[in-house]
Amino acid sequence: MENVKNRKMIIGLTSGNGYGFQPGAWRTPGVDPTSYTSYDARVRHAQAAERGKFQFIFLPDGPFTDDSTLLETEAPNFNLDVMMTLAAVARETKRIGLVATGSTTFNAPYTLAKQFKALDIMSHGRAGWNAITSTSNDVAAIYGQTIPSSRDRYGRAHEVVQLVQAFWGSWGKDAWVHDQESGQFAKHDEISTISLKGKYVNARGTLYIPPSEQGQPIIFHAGASPNAHELAGRFANVVIGAAFTIEDSIQQRKAFRESAKKYGRDPDEIKFIAGMMTTIVKDRRTALDRRLQLMGHLLPQRVAYLQQMLGIRLDGNDLNEPLSQEQLQAARPSPYDPRSANALKIAKEGWSLKDIIAHGIIDYHPSIVGPGVEAADHMQAWFEAGACDGFWISPDILDDGVDAFVDEVVPILQERGLFHKDYEGTTLREHIGAPEQYGIDPRVSNIKLLIIKFKNMKIGIVGTGAIGSLLAQKLSKAGHSVKVTNTRAMPELEKIAADLGAKAATLQDVVKDVDAIIFSMPFNAYKDLPKDLLKEVPQDVVVMDTSNYYPFRDGDIAELEEITESEYISGILDRPLIKVFNNILEGTLKHKGTAAGTEGRIAISTAGDNEEHKKIVAQIVDITGFDTVDGGNLSESWRQQPGTPAYCTELDEAELKKALDSAEKGKAPAIRDSIMNSLMSKDTWPSYEEILAGNRVHQKGKGK
Ligand SMILES: Cc1cc2nc3c(=O)[nH]c(=O)nc-3n(C[C@H](O)[C@H](O)[C@H](O)COP(=O)(O)O)c2cc1C
Repeated sequence: MENVKNRKMIIGLTSGNGYGFQPGAWRTPGVDPTSYTSYDARVRHAQAAERGKFQFIFLPDGPFTDDSTLLETEAPNFNLDVMMTLAAVARETKRIGLVATGSTTFNAPYTLAKQFKALDIMSHGRAGWNAITSTSNDVAAIYGQTIPSSRDRYGRAHEVVQLVQAFWGSWGKDAWVHDQESGQFAKHDEISTISLKGKYVNARGTLYIPPSEQGQPIIFHAGASPNAHELAGRFANVVIGAAFTIEDSIQQRKAFRESAKKYGRDPDEIKFIAGMMTTIVKDRRTALDRRLQLMGHLLPQRVAYLQQMLGIRLDGNDLNEPLSQEQLQAARPSPYDPRSANALKIAKEGWSLKDIIAHGIIDYHPSIVGPGVEAADHMQAWFEAGACDGFWISPDILDDGVDAFVDEVVPILQERGLFHKDYEGTTLREHIGAPEQYGIDPRVSNIKLLIIKFKNMKIGIVGTGAIGSLLAQKLSKAGHSVKVTNTRAMPELEKIAADLGAKAATLQDVVKDVDAIIFSMPFNAYKDLPKDLLKEVPQDVVVMDTSNYYPFRDGDIAELEEITESEYISGILDRPLIKVFNNILEGTLKHKGTAAGTEGRIAISTAGDNEEHKKIVAQIVDITGFDTVDGGNLSESWRQQPGTPAYCTELDEAELKKALDSAEKGKAPAIRDSIMNSLMSKDTWPSYEEILAGNRVHQKGKGK
């Protein structure tokens, strides 16, 4: 059940071109006609809203129009740049939330993440991001693109929002120490790299911005389609709504709340804010005259539109006369325009034709043209009917319209107990009652996101054969501290290690004080390792095994008829481990690594029983240039052993999944041996390309 007791409404102010939200606002006497470029004007309007304890200002965004002839008489709709405006406002206000629109359709997630979190820092936790999808061809053209389908627009939006939030969380909440005494600036291991390979967006990196007072910005959304319900239900805390009738608003709010519930959220986590346009003056007559002064020049076209709304002819009417009884009786509200019923209601009250229009019946949102109490009544009725959680206000003229609302409407709402008397906190999160969140919300996440915790891992590698050497090289090049060991004498080992960018260590030392250990040795050499090698190694150290069993080299091992190769190794080491890097050729590892998100990126599989360790291994694989497919438990790891379709056949993620599924348990050893026999029967050892081609043919890894 919805908690209605003590509910207080949320109020936001819209900020756009600096003048106001009625046509002609820019040329009203007393309005500075250059406000379009005035940041001082924006600051003044925000300060006025803050005086009225508004929870936020909201900045829509978009290009004006592709029809620049409109500029002959009208100002563009929007701010010069929404982030610049909010930066200016942030420095001159203390409490009010600062919400800007940023399209998820064409912007890069990293850019959005950086700008909004920087604003959040600058404003001490007052930033909100209105994450919308773009539907206008003008916007698409600016980016040299076309508007994608709704499905693709929203598909991208789901990924972008999560990626942006993941960037926000990449600097750990408590990572920033800035302790002058100890000299520690930040805890590097609490700052992670995030990596996403999505269907629509890819990114890998870190956003080096610590948390703000509210952690990270709040997600808003503006949209009304079923896809919008899905997006907002998942991620948004506030919906900027548009509804003309109380019934429609109730339905819309319900749809968003149900969607939130579907995703395991409390419906109260999402607030539906209805739009409202205002001309607040002491009485209705004065208010209508003010409106007429603002939009009188548009009366002819508005009358033409009203004809369609009411289904009657009005072109012979006197603007100063009410509609005739015949006209009122013949009028039928248009089913295509939800504003029509209200237009007819106003007409029936006997107002003149121009006054009907001056009531704002063709405005983008319900309009209140009259004294403050009329606005308060409207708001109370909607709020108490469960039609909304608050309102975003678009005043006719910002210079005095915000003050009029603050002085004439806010006190009535406060007196009626509908609106707070002061800010409860200092952040936007507190103003709107959104729950704590830092980084992505795991309850609603549906992307395959890697959060790479360790910027600088300490890795020990046992064995410097083909795979061990390449791993040492790649991981040390990526900034990790790598030490290696092999069976050579120390002076030679030191030289090998130096060539790999690693440090030389004895077998005993290579496993000490590390985050991960990679065993990369010939299969039959494991049995000669000291029995207690890993005894002192903590359980959270990830142990990996890259080995493969070849009977011609390793001899017959009877146990392998019962258990997998890595289970056998795990037994010798007396330690759970992750099987990885066994099904990749040296040539593949050396030459075929690509950046995360690259089309057709090659994947290798992991197997093991520890899910957390598998995630870390996936991060290591990613660093080396490859995707990872989870091949299941260690007991399932026969699916990636020599002779299987998944073994060294250079498959992408989807292909590798199929290959693992299609493996047949009994068949692999014979295939393995026949491939090896044919390789060894050649006069010269085949090239990597020939081996790959042979694997693909005999193991049927590709094209199955
Ligand atoms: C109240 C409201 C405000 C909006 N503000 C903006 C805006 O500032 N900039 C923008 O590009 N789109 C804005 N939109 C457009 C939406 O993001 C979206 O493109 C539109 O609702 C169509 O989406 P749909 O596919 O869900 O129907 C707004 C939509 C609504 C309902």
